[in-house]
Amino acid sequence: MTPLVIASANGHQYRNGGTETCVERVFRLMTDGADPADPLEAIVDGVTIVELDPTETSVGFGGLPNADGVVQLDACCMHGSRGRAGAVAALEGIATAAAVAHRVLVETHHHLLAGQGALDFAISRGFAPQGDLMTPRSRGLWIDWRRRLDALLSTDPSLAADARRRAEAGYEIGLAMSREGLIDPNHLWGTITCSAIGPKGDVCGVTSTSGLAWKIPGRVGDSPIPGAGLYVRGGVGAAGATGRGESTLYSLSSFAIVEAMRRGAHPKDAGMAALKEIKDTTVDPSLLNARGAPNFNVKLYIVNAAGDYAGVALYGGDAVRYAVCGENGAELMPCEALIDQGHEFVD
Ligand code: GLY
Repeated sequence: MTPLVIASANGHQYRNGGTETCVERVFRLMTDGADPADPLEAIVDGVTIVELDPTETSVGFGGLPNADGVVQLDACCMHGSRGRAGAVAALEGIATAAAVAHRVLVETHHHLLAGQGALDFAISRGFAPQGDLMTPRSRGLWIDWRRRLDALLSTDPSLAADARRRAEAGYEIGLAMSREGLIDPNHLWGTITCSAIGPKGDVCGVTSTSGLAWKIPGRVGDSPIPGAGLYVRGGVGAAGATGRGESTLYSLSSFAIVEAMRRGAHPKDAGMAALKEIKDTTVDPSLLNARGAPNFNVKLYIVNAAGDYAGVALYGGDAVRYAVCGENGAELMPCEALIDQGHEFVD
């Protein structure tokens, strides 16, 4: 079996001051001839690099916080050969959410721990709470967002009483900050997802995120939910998602992709079908741009047990890439786009 690692682009963009990116570390650890790591342990180790990098504003330490300025993390891991999953949701104070999710998988028969229970479990397993996970940069961005929202609330006080309109206004401010170059557009719902086929054919995956920037406190996205932000089936393959989590939750996109591959679909076709389902089920006017298409992006990262892979997105373009690492090293590749290869989703 030829080992392979696939991840969102941040899996080959951040090193946290070290020499390796996530995908490079995963590949090295699981193919180390003398002492190969279990692929899931290797992936958790690789994802930890990105979670701890303070310059990455979409996961772990320095991830963009919720509307109250609190970083709440979601993460999931799945081991296909062992048929096991572990996840945490709305975890506060511990940046390495993927490692905590892995402890849930290894040490419990549960699949998902949330909030204070997840934190208590992590502490009981030896994780040290770090308190505030904001960096000066993420705090500055949150203060800027809050200032803009407060200005809007002062001109339109009715917004304060309407949770939906208020959330939409907050999202619009995030998009504006992204257009102004203050936030990487990939980081509004930024996430890392990484899956691998190990040398013995094991299929494993991890997804970790700080979730939608400025989310309503307590909001949980797709990342910790098996079938939404990640799905792995031994002998078939894996799919992970980044982008607007509510969309992949509604369509259970990762599960749909792996099921399509189980029926024989190629990863690219399975991914495109999942994107089409998201597009077709996006009918709420507040989620459509002027062209009547989704006003958000979703990216899916897919590998089958034979090592065929694909990265697909609703919208493509220079910044919409995915990471792959195999025997010949790591590279970033352009995602295939369903709707448009060259336009921003907000057009
Ligand atoms: N995909 C990450 C989120 O929506 O939370």
